[in-house]
Amino acid sequence: MIYNPLQERYDKMNYRRCGRSGIRLPEISLGLWHNFGSVDVFENFRKILWRAFDAGITHFDLANNYGPVPGSAEENFGTILKKDFSNLRDEMIISTKAGWEMWPGPYGDFGSRKYLLASLDQSLKRMNLDYVDIFYSHRPDPDTPLEETMGALAQAVHLGKALYVGISSYPADLTKKASALLKEMHVNCLIHQPKYSMFNRWVEDGLLDVLEENGIGCIPFSPLDQGLLTDKYLKGIPKDSRAVNPNGFLKVEDVTDQKVNKAKRLNEIASKRNQSLAQMAIAWLLKDPRITSVLVGVRSVNQLDDNLKTLNNLDFSEEELKKIDNILKEK
Ligand SMILES: NC(=O)c1ccc[n+]([C@@H]2O[C@H](COP(=O)([O-])OP(=O)(O)OC[C@H]3O[C@@H](n4cnc5c(N)ncnc54)[C@H](OP(=O)(O)O)[C@@H]3O)[C@@H](O)[C@H]2O)c1
Repeated sequence: MIYNPLQERYDKMNYRRCGRSGIRLPEISLGLWHNFGSVDVFENFRKILWRAFDAGITHFDLANNYGPVPGSAEENFGTILKKDFSNLRDEMIISTKAGWEMWPGPYGDFGSRKYLLASLDQSLKRMNLDYVDIFYSHRPDPDTPLEETMGALAQAVHLGKALYVGISSYPADLTKKASALLKEMHVNCLIHQPKYSMFNRWVEDGLLDVLEENGIGCIPFSPLDQGLLTDKYLKGIPKDSRAVNPNGFLKVEDVTDQKVNKAKRLNEIASKRNQSLAQMAIAWLLKDPRITSVLVGVRSVNQLDDNLKTLNNLDFSEEELKKIDNILKEK
């Protein structure tokens, strides 16, 4: 099969400026954490990538360890890039990360210069790329000096192996310091990737303000709380769900009565807005102009299509927001 990208793809998507940078990202981006590994079905995720690109999604988010097996999502993505997107590289923003355990021994985890730069070389090889657009420190490292981790990111840029850098899951105070250190090295922190959804609002307590002050974009991950903010679990735990997938990160015990009950009530509000719960959960994040893009994961083209329809209604009334807040704040 030959992929011919849809001509009208850029009319289907809005693009938001990422902090105070030259880059604009699609309001919805695609993450390859689950469903793109060596245990998954090649033709299925290949079609997801086609549909995403046809819908104007230009940003694809990876990490060294995505799979399983770790590294296989990058390999699969590299294979599809070569087959289907070889003349489209300049229309894509591809990110990868290092920071979680990747190989045995003291140099395959956390935030040392040794680990980050070796891992980036491995990622480039797996994806068969000369450079990535964004290279992230995947998590803060309490034992490595921040100067060293940020120095490794800056060096990746100076070596031409990454065009921009980002940080993921850094708290507000460390984000401020990281941004200042990078500036001293003549590199701007392009973007922060935090976990953020209706069920996890830690970023509202300072981080979003720091990002705005420092001109850094924000791309929330797990915006659907890995599926809990969809209609998936409203009537029990289905067989085709991340919660029962042995390779899935979500566990059956994470599907708590409290979350399901809240999801049911949120789903009623979504229905009144003529949206699915997934769509309302994504729109709820995009209502804040400090959010550059929302990073979704999907197992099928259907889920992607459902999530893309979010863009038809991003507006909330004050009353809707209040009702949602009340549900979220209940113990
Ligand atoms: N920086 C980090 O530390 C970090 C950590 C985690 C993720 N991420 C990034 O963020 C991306 C997204 O994370 P995520 O996969 O957890 O995001 P998510 O969007 O919260 O969850 C995705 C899962 O929700 C379900 N889903 C999605 N759309 C649906 C729909 N319309 N209806 C019903 N169910 C739907 C699917 O689960 P089922 O399989 O159950 O159908 C899907 O696999 C990752 O791919 C990765 O790029 C980054």
